[in-house]
Formats: sequence, C-alpha cells, structure tokens
Amino acid sequence: MHDQAETLRKLVLNSAGGQLLDKQEEPQKKARVITITSGKGGVGKTNVTVNLALALSRKGLKVVILDADFGLANIDVLFGIVPKYTLLDLIYDRKSVYEVLTDGPENIKFLSGGSGVEELIRLDRTQLRKFVANINILDKLFDVILIDTGAGLSRNVLSFILAADDVILVTTPEPTAITDAYALVKVVSRRDHKKHINILVNKAENMTEAENIANKLCVVSEKFLSLKLLKLGYILYDENVTKSVKLQKPFALYDPRCQAAKCISDIADKLFSEQAADSSQGTKGFISKLLSFFGA
Ligand SMILES: Nc1ncnc2c1ncn2[C@@H]1O[C@H](COP(=O)(O)OP(=O)(O)OP(=O)(O)O)[C@@H](O)[C@H]1O
Ligand SMILES: [Mg+2]
Repeated sequence: MHDQAETLRKLVLNSAGGQLLDKQEEPQKKARVITITSGKGGVGKTNVTVNLALALSRKGLKVVILDADFGLANIDVLFGIVPKYTLLDLIYDRKSVYEVLTDGPENIKFLSGGSGVEELIRLDRTQLRKFVANINILDKLFDVILIDTGAGLSRNVLSFILAADDVILVTTPEPTAITDAYALVKVVSRRDHKKHINILVNKAENMTEAENIANKLCVVSEKFLSLKLLKLGYILYDENVTKSVKLQKPFALYDPRCQAAKCISDIADKLFSEQAADSSQGTKGFISKLLSFFGA
C-alpha cells in the first residue's frame, strides 16, 4: 500500500531519525511519558514543555509534545505554528497518527489536543481500539512524549498525571502557586502515593529561593501525605522568556545562552540521567491507564 499515509509514515520515521526496519527487527522501544502540570495557572508549564523538548532533542532524543490544554492552543502559539490537524482528526479516524503530527523546530513534533481530549470519553470501543493502535505507534517513533496540561485538577488533567511515567509539577515562588501545587500533590497522593512527581520552581530569583521552596514542599508532602517528591531543579526569572513569548519563539531558540535556557538544559540532563530510561511503561501502559481513568 503506497497511499499518502504510507508516504507520511516514511517521512515521519526519517525525520525522527529512525530507519525503516523489518517487522522482526523493530526494537521494543518504549517512549517515556512525562506530564507537565501545575496547581495554579500561568506558572510556566507551556514554556517548560517546549523548551524542555528542545533541550532533550539537542541531547539526541526524539521528542513529541501532546498539547492537552484543550481550552487554549498553547503549544502552537509558543512555536508560532498553526497545525493543520488535531487529536480530533485522529480520534474520528479522519487522519492517521503520521498526518496529525505537526513539525516543530529542531526535529520536534507536536500534536494539538484541541477539543479531542474531551472527546475521548465519548468514543465507543471500536473507535477507542483504533485510537489506541494509532497512539501506540508513537512508541516506535519517539523516546519521549511530553504532555502539556491546563492548570488545576480537572478529571482530564488528573488522568494525564496518573497515567504518565513521570510528572513535572511547576510552581513559582508565589505563595498561592505553592499552596495550589501542594493541593495537587494531595489529590494525586490519594490515588497513587508512589507517583514520580518532580518539583520544578520557575521564575525563581535565585537558586537558594528555589531550593527552599522545593525543600518545604518535599518535607510537608512526605510528612502529611507520605509521598516522596523529587527535586528537579529551577528556572530563574529571565526577561528573555517574556521577550521570546512575544516573538513566538521558544527561549532556548531565541537565546540558547540566556539564563532560562541554561536552567532548562540542566533540567533535561537531570531528568535523563537519574532515572533509568527503561522505567517507562510506553504508550500501551499509558493509554490503557488513561482510558481506565476516562472510564472507557
Ligand atoms: N522563567 C521565566 N521568567 C520570566 N517570565 C516567565 C518565565 N516563565 C514564564 N514566564 C512568563 O509567564 C508567562 C506564562 O507562561 P506559560 O504560558 O508557559 O504558563 P502556563 O503555566 O503554561 O500557563 P497556562 O496555565 O495559562 O497554560 C509567559 O508568557 C512568560 O511571560
Ligand atoms: Mg500553558
């Protein structure tokens, strides 16, 4: 079969740095699924997601972003790219997974959620099976799947948190952001007290401020919720972030040597040095968990 989808499949494989292999030779690779979330809105999730994607891509990893903030098309705006298709086209079998992936900068691909994430609840079994088969293809194409969520704890967001291998919980030094982050940890701990939640303090004035906040969250969470948080690091407050957002260019591209870009590069190193890559469950585990949370 040599239709448009097949051509695209080859394109995606090639541009993702992969090679077309025989069925038997296909590696049993599993993508690591990382959900980026926060208690309070506007703390920097989308900036963390796109710039972390760039930093990981520069480390040689194949990265895809799923924009699961269905209210606002965040990722598109920060990349300054308008995608042709969204998750909705995949769900309703109008397009294949190869077609719904949009090219971002430096080999990154992204998939816009649109209202597709909420549609998941309404699919029948056959539609779901097709959808899952499609998403499972991502395992072979990518090393990392980054999921940018909306703020707060809707059922959708909680599902993406619980289904992921790792969670990056973004907060700022503002007391409201910290208490909202703690509230999120509290809800998650009731469902899974072993969840890998990585604390990232964004817009920090300095390292000490960030460390104090992360330490406090860790202590309180362990004491009252019996959940061990992981300290992922911090990103300094940097005017270059605001400037880059206005230009619709990720700061790691706008100025790779700015303070925020250095911080995100350290975070990428930490994320992929400390935890074993084979700890990932791949998309099969992720999707089956996700669907069970959606009540499918
Ligand atoms: N390290 C930083 N230094 C300075 N400004 C920052 C930094 N990180 C984020 N910002 C500012 O905060 C704004 C919000 O960031 P972003 O859109 O990434 O947050 P968000 O958590 O995704 O928001 P939402 O909850 O609405 O999805 C950005 O437009 C940028 O101006
Ligand atoms: Mg956002």
